[in-house]
Amino acid sequence: MNSAIPPGSTLVAGLRPEARNAPPSGISEVVDHGRQRPGLIPLWVGEGDLSTPAFITDAAVRSLEAGETFYTWQRGIPELRDALARYHQRLYGRGFSPESFFVTASGMHAVQIAVRLVAGPGDEIVVPTPAWPNFGAAVGVCGAVPVCVPMDYAQGRFTLDLDRLAAAITPRTRAILVNSPSNPTGWTATRAEQEALLALSRRHGIWIVADEIYGRFVYDGSPRASSFHDVMEAQDRVVFVQSFSKNWAMTGWRIGWIEAPAAFGQIIENLIQYSSSGSPVFVQRGAVAALDEGEGFVAEQIARAAEGRRIVFEGLKATNRVTLSAPDGAFYQFFSVDGHADSRALALDLIDRANVGLAPGTAFGAGGESGLRLCFARKSADLVEAVARLQKALAGL
Ligand SMILES: Cc1ncc(COP(=O)(O)O)c(C=O)c1O
Repeated sequence: MNSAIPPGSTLVAGLRPEARNAPPSGISEVVDHGRQRPGLIPLWVGEGDLSTPAFITDAAVRSLEAGETFYTWQRGIPELRDALARYHQRLYGRGFSPESFFVTASGMHAVQIAVRLVAGPGDEIVVPTPAWPNFGAAVGVCGAVPVCVPMDYAQGRFTLDLDRLAAAITPRTRAILVNSPSNPTGWTATRAEQEALLALSRRHGIWIVADEIYGRFVYDGSPRASSFHDVMEAQDRVVFVQSFSKNWAMTGWRIGWIEAPAAFGQIIENLIQYSSSGSPVFVQRGAVAALDEGEGFVAEQIARAAEGRRIVFEGLKATNRVTLSAPDGAFYQFFSVDGHADSRALALDLIDRANVGLAPGTAFGAGGESGLRLCFARKSADLVEAVARLQKALAGL
């Protein structure tokens, strides 16, 4: 081997550009800066601090003990698809067919498949931003172009600019990716906004990829956020991506689902076959327990998040150094520190000063650069301590 050539560089140059150019997560630099610090309170992640409850883990253990360790249905075990139909019926108040549900190896895998269903090289997918960075990256990796459309921002609140969104649609647009409630902003689409988005989809013949994974986390007393389920007709071009990660504290299990017209069955089965080749049966048994027995746990998580939201919002507001509004949904507080627009530098600095880990807004695309994202799905004591540390640090900036 020629030692003058840096190891691997010519090999890297030979890779497919879409793979080579996939961006690293904008949060990882900050995580790397703080990872080893004793006592750091990590609020940069998109997950709660509870481990999966026993009624779910027990179901998975029973399955493993029963020897359910073989390949299985690509679309998901029938029991899970039935449980998904029942869950949707309870949540949306009408009948659903198990045939419209497809079990995936995470919400991320559901996003990837949904994107691959509708877009490829030369196509565009419109993404309102700030947004979860994996959306744009998933679009880019499959050879399509994510077209970021910044949301409007005033007094700490993001709103959808429907005219700007409509203006971003070109003949190459194949879909709009709508994440409501939103990670990272907490923006939650109103029914009227969903109707307007659907009208755009109908007018242009484009898809809506609806990520409603935080749909249970709303704070106005309603059981769930408004959903495209409430406004769509059966023939509308809507594909839902979903996850077990957040509602049931199952981030490490890697299981989610797609809801799409039953007519897509074989096509989605093929895309699952050629990516994950199905999700483990024991993981799916846990997911059945989550859906059928998990309402008490979901309610507990939402109550906890509501308390976390209150602690964080009130504590940060009291500093008089930040711009923010209490999020309508999801479990993140997005805020900016007045006079400090460089969120990357600020997130690094706050690790040093406060030993609190926050995600920099730069990670979430156009419109979010000056913000910080704080995850409040955590026990109150941690949040009270984190806010106290942030108050002190902000006073010293
Ligand atoms: C908006 C959104 N969609 C999808 C996901 C994917 O979740 P998972 O891959 O853990 O199922 C996440 C995770 O943070 C998310 O925030």
